[in-house]
Amino acid sequence: MASIAVYSVKGGVGKTTLAVNLAWCASAISRRKTLLWDLDAANGSGFLLGVDPKKKRSADSMFGEGAEPAKLIQPTAWPGLDLLPADESIRALDRQLDRLGKKKRLAKLVAALAKDYDRIIFDCPPVLNELSAQVMRAADLVIVPLPPSPLSARAFEVVFEEVRGSGKGHPPILPVLSMLDLRRSLHKQAREANPTWPVIPLASAVEQCAVERQPVGAFAPRSPAARAFAQLWTAIERKLAAG
Ligand SMILES: Nc1ncnc2c1ncn2[C@@H]1O[C@H](COP(=O)(O)OP(=O)(O)OP(=O)(O)O)[C@@H](O)[C@H]1O
Ligand SMILES: [Mg+2]
Repeated sequence: MASIAVYSVKGGVGKTTLAVNLAWCASAISRRKTLLWDLDAANGSGFLLGVDPKKKRSADSMFGEGAEPAKLIQPTAWPGLDLLPADESIRALDRQLDRLGKKKRLAKLVAALAKDYDRIIFDCPPVLNELSAQVMRAADLVIVPLPPSPLSARAFEVVFEEVRGSGKGHPPILPVLSMLDLRRSLHKQAREANPTWPVIPLASAVEQCAVERQPVGAFAPRSPAARAFAQLWTAIERKLAAG
């Protein structure tokens, strides 16, 4: 089992979109048994996958003593792709994890799910707190979507420092230029300055995910955006295999 976090402290950079589409690629293309774990109370991942929350629950139900997050998992319309949805209780979680004083609470829950899944993908909220620190301790790889700008490299440095600050052995970090529009000169410059970074194009097909409530690969498999997500997923698998 490998776990992948999609993370940035910046809001609206495409984390949820990336997490959902990568999770779909993992299950539909790589045939991995995949869990998308939504850690953002906004519940965007569930929305994009067409999964509506079942019922109210408290943070205790997921992270408390003897908790069994496996019981909260919901299937999606796609075989091999399940969702662990978020809800309001996540907002209280940060304080709770602090109080529990268990630095590896999340990592332990992830380990318990390893028998059921090949890939676990975290959709993270745009915050730097105890929860994000726990995610960095649990993840094998961190994907950081960056909006293309002359400051992309600087923005990446900042996130890199944050991840590194979370502990001694931090996971590898993969930057991704998200929402790239090569008709814009600043985007072109950002691309040229970081030629090795994977790219997700700015595309109406990606925006359409929120209308269709499906990953791009499911409703527009031949679109350039679907190909970009698939390519990025392949690069991630390669990075995981390289260890
Ligand atoms: N490649 C893309 N092309 C076009 N629109 C995109 C692309 N990626 C994301 N978007 C749009 O940008 C908006 C923000 O995306 P998303 O919700 O994935 O970001 P986020 O980082 O998860 O935000 P938050 O920090 O609020 O959780 C959404 O409306 C989404 O449809
Ligand atoms: Mg989000």
